[in-house]
Amino acid sequence: MKIHVTDQDGQKHDLDAIEGWQVMEIIRDYGLLIKAECGGSCCCATCHVYVDDAWLDKLYDMRDDEDDMLDETFDREDNSRLSCQLIMSEELDGLTLTLAESAKP
Ligand code: FES
Repeated sequence: MKIHVTDQDGQKHDLDAIEGWQVMEIIRDYGLLIKAECGGSCCCATCHVYVDDAWLDKLYDMRDDEDDMLDETFDREDNSRLSCQLIMSEELDGLTLTLAESAKP
């Protein structure tokens, strides 16, 4: 299972993903620039990513607390999500996303 991540410098990375893990944890464990300050509790928005449009329909709908946290960022877009709220599953094998500037440590 893989996820494809473009970092804030435009470099592309193919990461091995593990079912049941938060996408944030996978990105963080590969050492990419993601602060994830709250450790995945949906209360910091420093795990902000832009999900490739082709994948948006495959994700669970955003809960209100994720929506509220994303409103706190300066660089929210229509395809913004918090990567700690995306849980890896077979359906997300190949998930493609870009790290937001606001995720930088
Ligand atoms: S790690 Fe804090 S909201 Fe995702």
